[in-house]
Amino acid sequence: MVIALFGATGRAGRLVLERLLARGDHVRALARDPGKLVPHPGLAVVEGDARDVPAVRRAVDGADAIVCCLGMQDIAVPATDFSESVRGIVEAARAAGIRRVVAIASAGVLADARGGLRNQHGLPAAFANIAAEHTRNLRTFEVTLDTTLGLLPRVPADRLLVTESGIAGRADVQRMRAAGVHAFLVGEAAMEQRITRAKAKVAEAGVPPDRAVLGGFSQVRLVPERFPVKSRLHGGWKGTLYNTFFVGTFNALPRPLVRRFGWHLLAFCTR
Ligand SMILES: NC(=O)c1ccc[n+]([C@@H]2O[C@H](COP(=O)([O-])OP(=O)(O)OC[C@H]3O[C@@H](n4cnc5c(N)ncnc54)[C@H](OP(=O)(O)O)[C@@H]3O)[C@@H](O)[C@H]2O)c1
Repeated sequence: MVIALFGATGRAGRLVLERLLARGDHVRALARDPGKLVPHPGLAVVEGDARDVPAVRRAVDGADAIVCCLGMQDIAVPATDFSESVRGIVEAARAAGIRRVVAIASAGVLADARGGLRNQHGLPAAFANIAAEHTRNLRTFEVTLDTTLGLLPRVPADRLLVTESGIAGRADVQRMRAAGVHAFLVGEAAMEQRITRAKAKVAEAGVPPDRAVLGGFSQVRLVPERFPVKSRLHGGWKGTLYNTFFVGTFNALPRPLVRRFGWHLLAFCTR
C-alpha cells in the first residue's frame, strides 16, 4: 500500500514510519525538515508544511490511506495550527478520493473551554490545549460504525471486539450487537450530563453493563492498573527505561497519591 504519513519526524510518527516500512508499505512522508528522516527505499519525502495545501496534495495524491501523527508546535501555547492542518489533510483526502484516514488522538479529548475532562480527572493544564485541538479534529473527521463492520471479518474469533466512536443511540448498539460486537466505547455521547442517558440507551438495548459484557468468556481476569501502563510496543533500552523506571516508579507510589491520575481496568479474556 502507499501511505501518506504526516508527523513522521515526531515521537509517535517515527514509530509508525518504522512499522509501515518494516511491513513493506511505501510511505510518502510530508516533513518540514527532510533531513530528520533516515533514507529508505520505501520512503519518499515531500518537503513542506502541513498547512501548505499544495504540499499536502502532493503527499496524498495516489495514496491508498493517510496516517496522521501530527502534533502541536508547543502544547503549552493555545493554537489552532494543528486542527487547521488536519482540516486541510481531510479536504485533500476527499479531493483525492481517499476514504481511509487514521489519526492519533490523546487523553482529555473532548475537554471543552472550561476544562472538561481535564478538570474532572486532574490532567496537567497543558493537556487542555492539545485536547482542545483533538476535539476540533473530531469535528473534522467523519466517524462511521461501518468501519467496525468492515473490519469484523478480519478480527480473530478469540478477541474481545470493542467498537469505538459513533454510537448515537439504541439502534446503533443493537446493530453492532447483532453483528457480533462484544463491547462499546460510548464517546461523545457519554460526555458530561449525557453519560447517564448514553448508559441508559445501552441498558435499554439489552446489553449488560460493565463486567457482565465479558460474560461470554470462560475465563476473565480483571487487572486494575494505575496509569501509566507498561508498554509492549517499546523494546530494548527504551522499553526497559520506560517500563522499569517510569512505570515502575509510578506504581511504587502510594495509591492515594496517584489515583487522581486515573486507572486502567484491563480484562484478560479466554473464550
Ligand atoms: N507522544 C505520546 O506519548 C502521545 C500519547 C498520546 C497521544 N499522542 C498524540 O500523538 C500526536 C503526535 O504526538 P508526538 O508526541 O509524536 O508529537 P511530536 O513528537 O511533537 O511530533 C509532532 C510531529 O508533527 C509535525 N508537525 C507539527 N506541526 C507541523 C506542521 N505545521 N507541518 C508539518 N509537520 C508538523 C512535527 O514535525 P517537526 O519534526 O518538523 O516538528 C512532528 O513530526 C499528537 O497529536 C499527540 O497528542 C502522543
